[in-house]
Amino acid sequence: MTTSTRNRSRETVQPEHEPLLDRTESQEHDPLYYNLARGPALFAQAGIWILATAVWTGIFSSKLMLFTLHPLLNSIGLLLSTQAILLLQPTSFSAPRQKKRAAGIHGVLNGLGTTSLVSGASVIIYNKASHNGTHFESLHARVGLAVYLLFFLQALFGALAVYAPSLFGGEARAKAMYKYHRLSGYLTFLLSLVAVAAATQTDWNKNMGKINLWPILLAGVLLAVGLGTGIKPNKLGIQ
Ligand code: HEM
Repeated sequence: MTTSTRNRSRETVQPEHEPLLDRTESQEHDPLYYNLARGPALFAQAGIWILATAVWTGIFSSKLMLFTLHPLLNSIGLLLSTQAILLLQPTSFSAPRQKKRAAGIHGVLNGLGTTSLVSGASVIIYNKASHNGTHFESLHARVGLAVYLLFFLQALFGALAVYAPSLFGGEARAKAMYKYHRLSGYLTFLLSLVAVAAATQTDWNKNMGKINLWPILLAGVLLAVGLGTGIKPNKLGIQ
């Protein structure tokens, strides 16, 4: 079917008295990458790119060493995770094929993001062990530990719900659990922004990294607006 025929057939099944299509919701034939810049997603993109740029500029203007992989890998993890959320957020069960494809890519991107975060965790743990540093003393270290654990559990839960639904008592029950995965996903992401903001207050950053707090706070506000306004309350089980 050509694009124009497809558009025409969509127009004919859309009676005039029906409300206009919800432009924040992706339709079956829309290219998936539209979701990355659909409506409020633009705020979230601005936010995550400001955050990544602030971290990378700070790191590349300081002395590069094994430790510097920690912030770099963590910011890449958050960048990938943001794309994963944005890709899936505007999909709905009224466009099931679109939703299924988006869910597959969401899993892959979040898998890569979590791998990047876990690698960032390995770097800092190795780095601390190599000079007998004390673990989990600062606010950043404590919040960061919680973020790593939550990201790991989040990815595990998502993968099991999709690929091993029998563990939850069948596909219908596994799908009924998605709302918890969504809610904990947003909370985990929010906490990861707190971890990055707290990273700017560490001794290393104050002396060497010099990543400013204000672009991270600005990024946090833009991400909260972009991701927050894209949330559909019914998908969280709120009617
Ligand atoms: C999602 C993002 C991040 C997470 C989850 C995270 C997590 C962690 C964790 C768990 C530790 C403690 C390791 C230990 O005590 O054994 C740590 C240490 C550290 N991180 Fe991050 N981090 C993140 C981003 C960043 C960024 C962007 C920077 C930028 C400078 C950074 C700088 C540091 C520094 C300097 C330490 C050592 C100081 C300390 O232990 O408080 N981190 N991080």
